Amino acid sequence: MKATGGSDEEKRAAGESAAEAVEDGMVVGLGTGSTAAHAIRAIGRAVDSGLDVRGVPTSFQSRELAREVGIPLASLDAVDGVDLAIDGADQFSGPHLVKGGGAAHAREKIVDAAADRLVVVADPSKAADRLDHPIPLEVLPDARTTATAAVRALGGAPALRRAERKDGPVVTDNGNLVLDCEFGGVARPAELAADLAAIPGAVEHGLFVGMADEVHVGREDGVDVRRF
Ligand code: 5RP
Repeated sequence: MKATGGSDEEKRAAGESAAEAVEDGMVVGLGTGSTAAHAIRAIGRAVDSGLDVRGVPTSFQSRELAREVGIPLASLDAVDGVDLAIDGADQFSGPHLVKGGGAAHAREKIVDAAADRLVVVADPSKAADRLDHPIPLEVLPDARTTATAAVRALGGAPALRRAERKDGPVVTDNGNLVLDCEFGGVARPAELAADLAAIPGAVEHGLFVGMADEVHVGREDGVDVRRF
């Protein structure tokens, strides 16, 4: 799993704090990344102790981990709704997020948007006054060249995400490519989100505008919970 940002203690504090929000009988969206993984492990321990939940994974990685720790799983179309989703972020500013560092943002957005409550787990390095992290854009492989040009026309600088232990590009769980799009500071996230979504061949972008209900920011000595 990729490691980003803050310390493992900070990530663990955030993940375990969010897992405390899980109640018996809930359907829980299981986010992706090293911070959400702490929440998944904590939910797994609670399941061992008798908690009755079903998890809806947001990625290959979260499915694998949830299976390993014994969380019963369901797909989104097999449940009536999602009570709570717990997910990480690459950056947050209030309730706005940039996600997709793990290239899982398309499924994450589907599950997180379906949830009655989205609890984001983060270490302090993810906090920003204004979003300025590159925005991941998942595109159909055939749209790589045209989407690259479209992002440039919006004022962004797109870079095809390259794999680290494979020659060539990162290929998402959905078989697509990712353009990391540098826009500098994002003054109007909703406008940029609409512009990116309108690019032909765009599958999903990593701007989660106004989606977080809570952000649990883990520190070495506790957790700050921000509610929106
Ligand atoms: C994956 C994501 C992750 O939630 C995000 O990259 C944060 O990961 P981490 O907790 O490892 O920093 O959006 O697509």
